[in-house]
Amino acid sequence: MSSQAVRLVVLVSGSGTNLQALLDAVADETYGAGVVAVGADRGGVEGLARAQRAGVPTFVERVADHPTREDWDRALAARIAAYRPDLVVCAGFMRILGKPTLEAFPVLNTHPALLPSFPGAHGVRDALSYGVRVTGCTVMLADAGVDTGPIIAQEAVPVLDDDDEAALHERIKSVERQLLVDTVGRMAREGWTVTGRTVRFGRPGG
Ligand code: GRF
Repeated sequence: MSSQAVRLVVLVSGSGTNLQALLDAVADETYGAGVVAVGADRGGVEGLARAQRAGVPTFVERVADHPTREDWDRALAARIAAYRPDLVVCAGFMRILGKPTLEAFPVLNTHPALLPSFPGAHGVRDALSYGVRVTGCTVMLADAGVDTGPIIAQEAVPVLDDDDEAALHERIKSVERQLLVDTVGRMAREGWTVTGRTVRFGRPGG
């Protein structure tokens, strides 16, 4: 990783296919970013194994190992800070981050629905049971709410007549991985500005 590259810490809770897409993208020096560590809120997940196979340092910080949620928030922020990230990417990380992380670093999140519709842990199921014909994925900045941060990029995915939750989620995830890679790459190479709820690529005054 070049010394100019934007330093990413990626947080996962599960299979880590979005993480894998980032690990594949950063192998190209021109991408502009490198993954300096992968963290999880639970051990034994495939996302951690993917990082290990790529030779990326990992850490696990479990909520249950701390007396209070606030203690976990502080411990997680300290683990992340040790890798001096320029950007933290939640890639299927199933926890709301607390102030210690949100105030220290810009944090990106990805969600398998077109926000502000269907936020929360069951975005695909909720969109399907509502009966929408088009859903999709959203990459946004994280804030203290549940999927409420400023939106950076979105892409639509049609709902097919015979879709169940698993099939629809898989089709969304293949679009989501590319959207995440494209968005992180542009943020790394071009910078970004936030004005109210509007996020634009490019450096201030650039
Ligand atoms: C993604 O659809 C993400 O938006 C959601 O969970 C999925 C994670 O997939 N929160 P993976 O772990 O990257 O394969």
